[in-house]
Amino acid sequence: MTWLEIQETGYRWMRRGIGGIMNALTGDYESTVHSGQALITAFRIPRWYRGYGHPQSLPSLQTPVFDVVFPSPITVAAFESHLDSIAFWVGLGCGGCCLKTIKPQPAKGNPRPRLQQVWIQGVPHLLNALGLPGPGVAGLIESLKAHPLRHMGVPMGLSIGGDTVADYHQVVDAIGDQSFLDSFYLELNISCPNTATGCSLHDQVSDIEAIVRYIRRKRDRLIVIKVSPDASDDRLRDIASLATQFDKVTLNAGNTQRRAVADLLSNGQAFQLSHAGLSGPALFERTLAMAKCLQPFQLPLIATGGITTADHIRALRDTGVAIVGVATQLVTNPFSVVRWNHELAGSPKR
Ligand SMILES: Cc1cc2nc3c(=O)[nH]c(=O)nc-3n(C[C@H](O)[C@H](O)[C@H](O)COP(=O)(O)O)c2cc1C
Repeated sequence: MTWLEIQETGYRWMRRGIGGIMNALTGDYESTVHSGQALITAFRIPRWYRGYGHPQSLPSLQTPVFDVVFPSPITVAAFESHLDSIAFWVGLGCGGCCLKTIKPQPAKGNPRPRLQQVWIQGVPHLLNALGLPGPGVAGLIESLKAHPLRHMGVPMGLSIGGDTVADYHQVVDAIGDQSFLDSFYLELNISCPNTATGCSLHDQVSDIEAIVRYIRRKRDRLIVIKVSPDASDDRLRDIASLATQFDKVTLNAGNTQRRAVADLLSNGQAFQLSHAGLSGPALFERTLAMAKCLQPFQLPLIATGGITTADHIRALRDTGVAIVGVATQLVTNPFSVVRWNHELAGSPKR
């Protein structure tokens, strides 16, 4: 057994143990996640893993998205706000990270339980209707200022969300006031399926355009528009066409898929909402289809959804995708990143 396999096995057992206990006590997967995060912080896991994955030592992995160069094409998708967890994943070799979507004001999100692990064909997935809880943009800025994550040498993105166009503008303004955020790229989360307004921005391309123009007046940095797998191909093409009218604007193809909760929960699992966003391996087919649909626009695409193997990444890169975003697999087995980087670089596994 290699050292990597030993760590993967240890992680799997720890996850099962914590999951079993927290599930029995609370029936809420979010408690499992919070316990895992507390352990990552308490045991200073990011320190132990700082530089462990070393994508910088595999120069063939370097990938530009316009003028932003990612040391590896594997990045942390916007889904996590626990900065120590993100630092752990970057240490394992993620070439960049986008922080969880932030809104202008602090928000509690939807009532719990609003996150569960579900099984499809024997494989773990996540079902979430968190509803974008968070500290608001001012809270995020404060926590980022003090955290070593931003000195780890990988590009970082801020995901912006809101219920109105004015909300997006407000977040952009708050970010613009902080010079230490000048190097961050911005991602627009236009798929907020668990908030009151639904997927409205997908249906309002003129609003997306207004937000992009607003950002462009203030910043010259990469802008990413994150589109939903639930959007029609025609709508995806409309948004891609919009992106091509600007400099340094691209698309992130993929988000959670809206699903009826009752179809996915097992006996005894509780959930407060009737619909939620599914993530994990079942999404990959649609992610690849979106990448193929968007290929003719020749944008340096990001693709996110269902990535669980290096072959998935290769298949996406073959359709012109530059970098990929990963969420569920980082929860299930973050050590996959070490393996994938080596497989993509064609160098022996550790
Ligand atoms: C718990 C959880 C929270 C998420 N929060 C966000 C978010 O705040 N903003 C966003 O754009 N996507 C969010 N996502 C979607 C992920 O970024 C990603 O697009 C999706 O999970 C599909 O990728 P995966 O199959 O690798 O998980 C979230 C996903 C999960 C599982």
